[in-house]
Amino acid sequence: ARLVVLVSGSGTNLQALIDACADPAYGAVIAAVGADRDSIAGLERAERAAIPTFVLRVRDFADRAAWDAALTSATEAYAPDLVVTAGFMKILGKEFMARFEGRIVNTHPALLPSFPGAHGVHDALAYGVKVTGCTVHLVDTGVDTGPIVAQAAVEVSEDDHADGGEALHERIKTVERHLLVDVVGRLAREGHRIEGRKVRIPA
Ligand code: GRF
Repeated sequence: ARLVVLVSGSGTNLQALIDACADPAYGAVIAAVGADRDSIAGLERAERAAIPTFVLRVRDFADRAAWDAALTSATEAYAPDLVVTAGFMKILGKEFMARFEGRIVNTHPALLPSFPGAHGVHDALAYGVKVTGCTVHLVDTGVDTGPIVAQAAVEVSEDDHADGGEALHERIKTVERHLLVDVVGRLAREGHRIEGRKVRIPA
């Protein structure tokens, strides 16, 4: 299966996918990496692995719809079977969703449906949960609302309150990249179909 991975940051999830794809038995290749900003470690990781990249910044477009159209055609150019948003900090637009809905995999650093949005780690900590974790799900038109494929739990310790969730996020990310690599590999090798809120693998 061909993947396009979208990133906005350090790209440690992307790196885990790059490493997994090095083994042909994994069943996926990263055709391109896209970003909504320059000078991020995620793009450097792609370049180091000789993967084509594209950068589309919202502020370079007349409006959000024009950015969405450009992101859709840039992604389409690589004919992906799956799009993976791995720490991509933008909400995908209508055109992108119309083209790829059902084939977009996102990873979120909390146990959805609790704590959706951009501050999942912090929000869970502030709420006082004792267990949080990560969720790999398909993207629908809502924010972090699509059908869940897999989740993993991470315990919160008292010390996690001291640093605003940084250490907790690192522990979540360690679990998250394994979960993401596992799910993307299964989807790539076995295909999937969506029945209501259930994702069936194999299709
Ligand atoms: C991940 O925890 C992702 O779920 C969150 O941001 C982090 C991205 O990390 N939205 P990285 O860029 O893959 O290192």
